[in-house]
Amino acid sequence: MAETTRFSVSMDAELLARFESRVRRRGNKNRSEALRDIIREALVREEWAGNDEIVGTITLVYDHHRRELTDRLTKIQHRYHAAVLSSMHVHLDHDNCLEVIALRGTANDVQRIADTLIATRGVKHGTLAATTTGKKIS
Ligand code: NI
Repeated sequence: MAETTRFSVSMDAELLARFESRVRRRGNKNRSEALRDIIREALVREEWAGNDEIVGTITLVYDHHRRELTDRLTKIQHRYHAAVLSSMHVHLDHDNCLEVIALRGTANDVQRIADTLIATRGVKHGTLAATTTGKKIS
């Protein structure tokens, strides 16, 4: 077995509490095992060849009161209109909006669009769920 290295991770208490509840829910033995699973999942996703066609949905929760955020998110989707198939906006409650965006494109493009949207200031949480059709786009 390869040598293991220890490293420490800083995170806020809320994220840590959510992580620990995930550890329990999934029956991981400990935090290290859970973190290794998460890292493996992320790496597998990145190993998709860049020109494989993937279809995915991006789910965003964001602050309704944040000025110009809706416009900014819409502008990003217009920039990548060729990959964005559809989007749905839900006014979750007084403060929060939920947006679900369906996409089809190369793994590179879909990942880039997801990263851009999720990293936009004011977005509280974002995930990309994706699968491949097995088709190559060249
Ligand atoms: Ni809304």
